[in-house]
Amino acid sequence: MVFELKCSKCRRKFDLKVNKWRCDCGSPLNLEISEYPKVENFSELIKDGQNIWRYSALLPFKEGVTLGEGLTPVLNKKIAEKEVFFKLEYFSPTGSFKDRGAALGVTRAKEIGVRTIVEDSSGNAGLSYSAYAASANIKARIYVPFDAPIGKRALMRACNAEVVECKTREEASLRAISELKNDEIYVGHTWDPFFLEGMKTEAFEIFEEKIQVDSVIVPTSSGSHLLGIYRGFEDLVKMGFLDEYPEFYAVQAGGITPIYDRIYGEWRGEKGDLADGLRILQPPRLDQILDTIKRTNGDVVVVDNEEIISGMKELYQMGLIVEPTSATAYAALKKIRDVKNPLVPLTGTGIKTVDKIEKIINIPL
Ligand SMILES: Cc1ncc(COP(=O)(O)O)c(C=O)c1O
Ligand SMILES: [Zn+2]
Repeated sequence: MVFELKCSKCRRKFDLKVNKWRCDCGSPLNLEISEYPKVENFSELIKDGQNIWRYSALLPFKEGVTLGEGLTPVLNKKIAEKEVFFKLEYFSPTGSFKDRGAALGVTRAKEIGVRTIVEDSSGNAGLSYSAYAASANIKARIYVPFDAPIGKRALMRACNAEVVECKTREEASLRAISELKNDEIYVGHTWDPFFLEGMKTEAFEIFEEKIQVDSVIVPTSSGSHLLGIYRGFEDLVKMGFLDEYPEFYAVQAGGITPIYDRIYGEWRGEKGDLADGLRILQPPRLDQILDTIKRTNGDVVVVDNEEIISGMKELYQMGLIVEPTSATAYAALKKIRDVKNPLVPLTGTGIKTVDKIEKIINIPL
């Protein structure tokens, strides 16, 4: 397995151990694989172990930091005549899919020998990084919007992270970068290609469990999750284990719709600000997200608060305790007509956001 760290635009190549979060031309970096292992069966690539490092043959590090991330359950349900595969990412160590990426990010910091990681986040990625940094005895400084759910901010501090509260999500991104010191590493998931490599293990798990999915419906903010799952399918296609890609559907919440706006023009519907995890106005990898949707014949779907609330209520009535942001994928599923065998990752637990849920479920619908 040969990995190359390359600029997504000017194609400049960097050493895998460089402490850089983007190319000198300003574009995001990608990890590309120039040589795949040659095996007959996917199982030959898998190691024993109850975490994502069982796929290390396809990851940029042979082993790494772990809190037992990955191997999340899949729940198959028939909903509106569709065979739906809910992937319960909220079973992750800190309650969201971000743990897969944070395991890679903190491992990279250790490999480079940096003792402080810096991240900006609406909450979940910040908590993942705080927990993984704590486990590796590394410092974490996390920039968040001041109104990020208290459950997430409190747990970051409990893990000993320095939490910097900002006026907005954008201010959090800008300050994380402008206040970065030379002996620190910026692992911001909106930019970091190593984070995406962690996400791809979700696709490997689906394939290993022989689940046939024809579409993937993902709440999308920075696109790290959508692009990471796609990266996993890309590995499987390039190694010859799959012939084609599932269709990728990005779900956005009304009010913050950069993907929709680029495809269809400015969104003019109702707000969806209950999805507090979907707040990035200008995702650095927007072009890559658009490209993935187009290439896989997918689409973008926008949901509003009313749809999020009914999605939450229906999920809770099925016993699926998610946070408001995760309910957007379910709400979108119900709006997409011809989707087949969809994979719907339920991205984050409701347990960190009970204060918000308590208010929301008291709103009659
Ligand atoms: C619960 C939840 N779902 C989805 C997302 C969106 O993920 P991404 O930024 O990878 O697009 C986030 C991001 O914070 C989140 O917290
Ligand atoms: Zn470049």
